Amino acid sequence: MQYDDVRRMTIPLYTADQARQALPAYPTDAPALDSYGRRINYLRISLTDRCNMRCVYCMPEIGMQFMPRPELLTTEELLLIVRAAARAGFQKIRLTGGEPTLRPDIVAIVQAIKQTPGITHIAMTTNALRLERLAQPLKTAGLDRVNISIDTLNPEKFRRMTRGGAFERVWAGIEAADCAGLRPIKLNSVIVRGMNDDEAPQLAALTLRYPWEMRFIEVMPLAGVADIAHDGVVTSAELIARLEAVYGPLEDLGLAPADSARRYRIPGAPGTLGFISSVSEPFCATCNRMRLTSDGRLHLCLLRDNEVDLRTAIRAGATIDEVEQIIRHAVMIKPWGHGLPDGVLPTLRGMSELGG
Ligand code: 5AD
Ligand code: SF4
Repeated sequence: MQYDDVRRMTIPLYTADQARQALPAYPTDAPALDSYGRRINYLRISLTDRCNMRCVYCMPEIGMQFMPRPELLTTEELLLIVRAAARAGFQKIRLTGGEPTLRPDIVAIVQAIKQTPGITHIAMTTNALRLERLAQPLKTAGLDRVNISIDTLNPEKFRRMTRGGAFERVWAGIEAADCAGLRPIKLNSVIVRGMNDDEAPQLAALTLRYPWEMRFIEVMPLAGVADIAHDGVVTSAELIARLEAVYGPLEDLGLAPADSARRYRIPGAPGTLGFISSVSEPFCATCNRMRLTSDGRLHLCLLRDNEVDLRTAIRAGATIDEVEQIIRHAVMIKPWGHGLPDGVLPTLRGMSELGG
C-alpha cells in the first residue's frame, strides 16, 4: 500500500477552522447517534501499523510500506481524541494495530484511557508475542480483556501462517493473560481454505478444556491480501456443519447485543465457540463501532474507504470541543452496508492498518 495514495485520496479533510465554522453544531448533551439511529459507542484504536508478525491474511509478504513516524498520533493527541470521543458518548475502547504492544508506552496509554471519564471498558487485540511480560502490568493499568490471534496449534504451520511467529511464546502469552485475569479470554482464528480449515475441530476442542471463547473469523480479502480467498471463503455455516459432524449438534447461544460473533457451545464444554461472518452475513444493522487509524483518521466502516481526519485539526490547534464536534459529525455520516457480498472491496488501507 502506498501511504501517499492514502493521504491524497482520503475524504473528507477538516481543518480546525472548518470545524468551527462549517460544521453544524451538534447538541452535546446526548450520546451520538448516526443518521440511521445506530448508537455508536465503541472506538477501535489502531496504535501502530507495524507488527512483529506478518500473517498471510493480513500483510503481503513483500512490499509493505509502513507509516513514517511523524504521521503517527502522539500519545497526547491520542488521549485528546479519547476524551473528546467519551464526551460524544463512546464508552468502550479497543486497542489494536498492527500490534498494539509494540507501542513503547502501551501500559501508560491503557492507564490514561481507563481513567478517562465516560470510558467504562477497555480491551486489546494482540498477537500475544509480548504478553507473557506485559499481561500483569496491563491488568494493573486497567485493561479489562484481550483477544488473541491463534490460527493453528501446530508450531510449524504457525510459523508459516504468521511468517515467523513462535507458537510457544504466544501460548505462554495466552496463559499469562489468563493468569492475570484478562478474562474472558477470546482467541481469534482467521480460517483460510487449504491452510487451517482442517484444524477447526482441534481449535474448537480447546473449549472442552479451557473456559475461553474460540472465535472463527471468515477471511476478508482486504488490500494487499486480496488473493488469500482464491479457493473461496470458508463460511461460518460450512464450519459449523464440519464441527457438528465431529461433536454432534452445537448448543446455539445466540448473538449478544452489538457483538459481531454468533455464539455456540459444544454441549458440556466450559468454553464457547464464536463465529464472525462478516463476509456471508454482514452485521451492519447492529454496528456500534468506528475505527481510529494510527495517523489520526476516523475510519467509518471497516469495509469502506470513507475517513474523517482528526489529526490535521488537532495539529492546527483544535480545542476538545471542536474535536468532539468533528467526531459527532463523523458519526452522523457513518455509512450503512458494504459491498463485500458483491465483490466490491475497499482499497485504501490493509487490515494491518485497521486492526480487524
Ligand atoms: N480477514 C479477517 N480477519 C482478519 N484479521 C486480520 N486480517 C484479517 C483478514 N484478512 C484479524 C485477525 C486479528 C485481528 C487483528 O484482525 O483475527 O486477530
Ligand atoms: Fe500482526 Fe495481527 Fe496482522 Fe498477524 S493479524 S500480521 S499478528 S497485525
